[in-house]
Amino acid sequence: MISFRSKQKSDQPATLVLLTSQQKHKLLPRELDKGDIFPVYEGKHLWVFAGLGKAEDLSLTELRIQVRKVLLSPYLKKLKGFELLPHTDEKSGVQAIIEGALIGTYSWDKYKSKDKDKVDPKDKNIHIVAELKKSYEGTQVVCQGVNLTRDLVNDNADTITSEYLEKVVRDLIKGNKNVSVEVLNKKELKAKGLNLHLAVNQGSPKEPKLVIVKYAGGKKGEPFTAIVGKGMTFDTGGLNLKPTNHIETMKIDMSGAAAVCGVLKNTLALSIKKNLLFVLGIAENLIGSLAYKPGDVIVGYAGKSVEIGNTDAEGRLVLADAIAYVVKNYKPATIIDLATLTGACVVALGFDYTGLFSNDDTFAAQLQKSADETDDRAWRLPVYAEIKNYIKSPIADLKNTSSIRGAGASTAAEFLRQFIGDSKWAHLDIAGTAYVDGHCRMYYGHGATGAGVRLVTNYLMNN
Ligand code: BES
Ligand code: MN
Ligand code: ZN
Repeated sequence: MISFRSKQKSDQPATLVLLTSQQKHKLLPRELDKGDIFPVYEGKHLWVFAGLGKAEDLSLTELRIQVRKVLLSPYLKKLKGFELLPHTDEKSGVQAIIEGALIGTYSWDKYKSKDKDKVDPKDKNIHIVAELKKSYEGTQVVCQGVNLTRDLVNDNADTITSEYLEKVVRDLIKGNKNVSVEVLNKKELKAKGLNLHLAVNQGSPKEPKLVIVKYAGGKKGEPFTAIVGKGMTFDTGGLNLKPTNHIETMKIDMSGAAAVCGVLKNTLALSIKKNLLFVLGIAENLIGSLAYKPGDVIVGYAGKSVEIGNTDAEGRLVLADAIAYVVKNYKPATIIDLATLTGACVVALGFDYTGLFSNDDTFAAQLQKSADETDDRAWRLPVYAEIKNYIKSPIADLKNTSSIRGAGASTAAEFLRQFIGDSKWAHLDIAGTAYVDGHCRMYYGHGATGAGVRLVTNYLMNN
């Protein structure tokens, strides 16, 4: 927890002082370079000075990185509480410090033996010496949404099932007014003809689910914005089985749906004044005697037939039915989907930038602004008129793979675009950004990052 106080009280065992290299302190014998951590005992009180480097070189990203680093340092990681003196009273700086603390120190320890020396970041009390501003509470709320998403992504695929995700959503909305939920299970999906969604889940004993939360926070009659997430609780690739070195992380293939949960949590906590739909298309792409097959032609909810070129291009199938269902039954003016959709997006952009696709330049610019403001980074990639020629099939209306080499992220986006009707639409391909498979990237430790949550929450708050 982070709290604010306007004056230093020194009632804590330690004080963390953030300093740019131009700033001095009476207890500090020398100037600090970026990354320097300098502890000083004054009687029993521990002062920890952390160098941020030259003020003019200090980006907000770098600030988050340095805050993470010092909080995880041996000096502070065992403390339950301490004061923090920021180097600045600028709002954006203090917000970055909050994020460096709450996002930066998150770690997934559920299955690790307890480290007695370490205090769980959730139990730490950081008393920031700064005038409390309302937006700081908002920043904290959003970080909690981000970390919920990360918990869902990090846990085992057989724990975070469709049943589990439905319960997460129901628990989040419990007791809230203006919220209702529709859940389609296998039976309803069959009756209504969401056959693409069903096909993907065919090899799994678990229930496929389409979960739709309707949130009426805006004016009556104002059209809905739909936030749609890919919820592949595990993606083996199906009969086009993923090889070793590609399959191991595929519990993260529900990161889009998990991000929708994070944005839902934020929306409720911040009472966002919009009419919103939160949509989770949940399935499990398994291999086995019941699995759907390459070469199958399946007619989905929109009435379009799809040739299955590859059972590993399953996300677009579930999303196509989810989007088509929401378009037909809820008529959203705007759709944002989040999906770990393509390895091609990772090839194009790497791990720091989400792929942003849209059919509307103004909308894309608004989302880009939110990405830039929150450091939940995105970079626009093209979808364009001619690209539809590459997802044609000789035996069906569409094919779930493309006929050309390259541009795999764009052809996947184009496949989704076929189902959006007249809506304004953006697609966020978070395949690269949702997860850190390694030690650390920027201010994220190993595991899920919560990609998309800050971006979409910021967009909803400001547009
Ligand atoms: N879930 C994967 C995409 C993915 C790859 C997410 C790496 C995170 C990290 C998706 O379902 C997939 O398998 N896509 C295929 C599509 C191809 C068969 C057309 C891909 O990208 O290889
Ligand atoms: Mn796949
Ligand atoms: Zn997938």
